[in-house]
Amino acid sequence: MRIDAITPVIGATISGADLGNARHIDNLKEALWEHQVVVMHDQPELAPQEQVALGRAFGELHMHPAAPQMEGYPEVFVIHADGDSKIANGNGWHTDVSCDEQPPLATILQLHTVPPAGGDTLFASMVAAFETLTPAMQAFLANCSARHESEHIYRGRYAQRGVDDAGRVYPSAIHPVVRTHPQSGRQALYVNPSFTTAIEGLHPSESRAMLSLLFKHQQRAEFQMRLTWQKNTIAIWDNRSTQHFALWDYWPQTRSGRRVTVLGERPVFRPGRFIQRNMRLSSARL
Ligand code: SIN
Repeated sequence: MRIDAITPVIGATISGADLGNARHIDNLKEALWEHQVVVMHDQPELAPQEQVALGRAFGELHMHPAAPQMEGYPEVFVIHADGDSKIANGNGWHTDVSCDEQPPLATILQLHTVPPAGGDTLFASMVAAFETLTPAMQAFLANCSARHESEHIYRGRYAQRGVDDAGRVYPSAIHPVVRTHPQSGRQALYVNPSFTTAIEGLHPSESRAMLSLLFKHQQRAEFQMRLTWQKNTIAIWDNRSTQHFALWDYWPQTRSGRRVTVLGERPVFRPGRFIQRNMRLSSARL
């Protein structure tokens, strides 16, 4: 099994992994905690039960609060967009289902149909985003919590795929703005433009200004990698330390696959030493 970093900040390509081998799975987890996103281009198409088993090797699976369930495999979320689609999943910066009290720890996505061009997914390191803030800003944010909501995203979203959500209550949760990664111990910014609606305790105008500054900072190109999918590429990302954006630039072409998510812990902030990273950011500070 070979591991090659995609950028110095985020992502690794893994080749030669045997997903049925417990030692390889342990190595895969170590690589994921370190690189935050791992990509495998050399795997066969996984049957739904194989993908569920791969997910369970990381822990109990998370159930999506809104998406349609695959028949026989309720933990599997079919990712699909084509020329008739009104929406495409993940088409905006987010971390998966951060509105849940226990959001997913990791997501495992395999695409089986990729468009002839486009359909890339961007990933950004929220560890790098946190570590490049000034000590004063880090200290301020470490004492903040934020509200994450989903009604505005999920209501009616999957109607075209047969989901009738009348009467359903969509989740919301309060999480720390800075989240400590349980394995690596590193601190990551845990707010995102899709689900995070307010910072607790601030005036709405202060909250809007602070979130807008953080969202802009998080999206700096230096924190990102870009995945160009091939048929049967598998990507696993750590939702505790990353955000992603699945580009819908391929309409009316088809892009589809399956994803499972692994249930995470309730996000926590553990005080510790804050790392400052000088990344020689490419433009003036925000
Ligand atoms: C998602 O947000 O889970 C979708 C990611 C993708 O399709 O690349």
